[in-house]
Amino acid sequence: MAQLFRPGADIAVRWALVALLAFPFVLVVALYVYAGSPYRTGQDRSVDQPVPFSHQHHVGELGLDCRFCHETVETSRFAGMPPTHTCMTCHSQIWTNAAMLAPVRESLVDGRPLKWNRVNNLPDYVYFDHSVHLAKGVGCASCHGPVALMPLVRQQAPLTMGWCLSCHRNPAPNLRPPSAIFDTLWKPTGDAAARGRALMASYHVDTRSLTDCSTCHR
Ligand code: HEC
Ligand code: HEC
Ligand code: HEC
Ligand code: HEC
Ligand code: HEC
Repeated sequence: MAQLFRPGADIAVRWALVALLAFPFVLVVALYVYAGSPYRTGQDRSVDQPVPFSHQHHVGELGLDCRFCHETVETSRFAGMPPTHTCMTCHSQIWTNAAMLAPVRESLVDGRPLKWNRVNNLPDYVYFDHSVHLAKGVGCASCHGPVALMPLVRQQAPLTMGWCLSCHRNPAPNLRPPSAIFDTLWKPTGDAAARGRALMASYHVDTRSLTDCSTCHR
């Protein structure tokens, strides 16, 4: 009978089979690694803006409060972006001719708002609300990092489901007193466990439905 396979073909076929069987597992591991990587999540990334606005300068050095520009952060889902006239309360007096600020002046003349590019962006199927987090003692820095030191804002957190859930399972260590909510450089002192317990009670934090799918997917 004529030989169908060369000697040694058996080994090649075995290896091919092993590779074929292993492929789905390799794929799953690769996808898993990719899903959490900064490359996909955008963590640590900053984006170009029409004007190189610096939080380090305006918050860290001039001491402006977040709510001066992000006016709706305590009252709505969205923090809100400053309208041009907010910038002009100062920049109609100082740095009035700076080339860097030309887009701001043009925006005022044309009546067209500045188009800031998004840094943090959740998929549409995720429900998020700023106001509830602030009311329950979660400060800006827990999600956005030390903004007062950032010349350009970068995405501090991975914004993955696992990241949201890790706090929703155990918020206590992430809570801060009302006076520290907007202070992105606040450092806790004293007994962490005792502080966590006290703040959980004073804010009436209720963790019962915080990990339910419908809390964030509605
Ligand atoms: C003088 C106005 C001003 C103040 C005060 C200010 N911001 Fe901003 N913020 C901006 C502008 C303008 C942008 C858009 C440009 C950018 O992304 O850097 C922005 C963007 C951001 C972003 C990124 C938004 C996105 O697209 O994801 C975060 C987070 C943020 N600010 C947090 C803060 C925090 C926290 C404070 C207070 C500690 C603060 N800001 C104070 C003007 C301000
Ligand atoms: C409370 C006053 C105030 C407000 C409001 C304000 N700025 Fe400024 N801004 C300043 C001062 C002061 C400087 C620094 C000038 C200097 O370096 O001497 C500055 C500097 C800048 C610069 C130069 C780069 C830098 O950071 O040194 C840019 C760009 C700028 N501002 C953009 C904006 C934009 C955009 C807004 C509105 C979202 C805004 N500013 C709102 C006071 C303000
Ligand atoms: C519990 C986490 C968390 C806290 C606390 C938080 N943010 Fe955010 N912030 C986010 C997420 C997530 C997004 C992206 C929302 C989206 O894409 O729908 C965001 C988006 C923003 C934006 C872009 C505009 C918007 O509303 O989508 C600004 C500005 C901002 N945050 C400022 C602030 C400021 C100022 C504070 C504190 C007063 C703060 N954030 C506190 C998680 C947080
Ligand atoms: C650092 C801690 C922390 C992080 C991170 C965080 N949360 Fe929360 N979240 C809380 C706390 C605390 C509450 C308030 C619980 C309560 O109502 O007592 C809350 C409440 C909520 C609520 C309101 C639940 C209700 O009762 O209506 C939603 C929606 C929510 N979070 C979505 C998110 C999403 C989406 C993310 C991730 C993008 C996220 N959270 C990240 C701490 C956090
Ligand atoms: C605390 C908020 C929160 C809760 C609770 C939550 N999710 Fe998510 N979920 C998210 C966020 C944020 C993303 C976006 C993740 C990303 O872009 O990486 C997401 C993404 C997803 C996705 C898209 C695939 C993926 O993993 O990226 C699915 C499917 C999903 N969630 C299912 C669920 C189910 C089922 C539950 C209940 C067991 C649940 N989620 C509970 C915040 C939440």
